[in-house]
Amino acid sequence: MEKQAVISAKHLKKAFGKGESMQVIYSDLNIDIYKGDFTVIMGSSGAGKSTLMYSLSGMDKPDGGEIDFDGTDITKLNNDKLAVFRRRQCGFVFQQIYLIEKMNLMDNVIAAGVLTSKDREGIKNRAKELFSLVNIPENTWRKTSSQISGGEAQRAGIVRAVINSPNVLFADEPTGALNSANSGAVLDVFSSLYENGQSIVMVTHDKKSALRGNRILYIKDGKIYGECDLGKYEPDHSERTEKLDRFIKEMGW
Ligand SMILES: Nc1ncnc2c1ncn2[C@@H]1O[C@H](COP(=O)(O)OP(=O)(O)OP(=O)(O)O)[C@@H](O)[C@H]1O
Ligand SMILES: [Mg+2]
Repeated sequence: MEKQAVISAKHLKKAFGKGESMQVIYSDLNIDIYKGDFTVIMGSSGAGKSTLMYSLSGMDKPDGGEIDFDGTDITKLNNDKLAVFRRRQCGFVFQQIYLIEKMNLMDNVIAAGVLTSKDREGIKNRAKELFSLVNIPENTWRKTSSQISGGEAQRAGIVRAVINSPNVLFADEPTGALNSANSGAVLDVFSSLYENGQSIVMVTHDKKSALRGNRILYIKDGKIYGECDLGKYEPDHSERTEKLDRFIKEMGW
């Protein structure tokens, strides 16, 4: 079956600053993200991974180029339309999750859900399913962010990010602030979402995180410098690990 692009970006340009201090991040970057893929974007620090994720998800506008996101050129949307688009189409997970402190976990998730749906009961039922998927037990739903661990906060943040069934889930170093056990649990959640058909774009410099993806893109010199088809994640993954190691070495990691 031919892969279907959910995002197709062409001739992307992005620079920061002006004149002598201008820093060109990319001047002609092309990238396709396919439906159902768990795409991982790697590259050295400062290569432009986060900047690219912000462009693809409509969090920030590129200086030029086109981004076809499921049939809409999002570079043509005004800020209001872009905000609506983001809410409907994208979910976000960052290194640090900011939950609303005065609300418990369930209410945090419902608050995100009601932005796109009026079916409060439906949202609540989906939240329950998702909390169970991320291993947050019922006695924790009513806790607030100050009463839970960093790992639990990150997992609750993922529930909030996918409550609206986003077309694409974007994650930027989602395990960057977690210890190894908590990272593993968060990565298991990403793997389950992927198995359930969720399209994911994850930015990371962590090899363990990257191994969860099926397609690895490497950004360098303002371009998608190379890509590696890793196939599906399996817990016993020595072959995939070797393949990824070879790939990032080739890329000059
Ligand atoms: N708002 C900004 N203003 C000026 N320069 C910026 C801005 N955002 C990013 N940059 C610069 O653009 C370059 C790419 O930044 P970006 O955050 O995309 O890198 P990255 O690949 O995500 O790096 P890291 O792995 O460290 O997160 C960096 O040199 C950074 O300093
Ligand atoms: Mg970054």
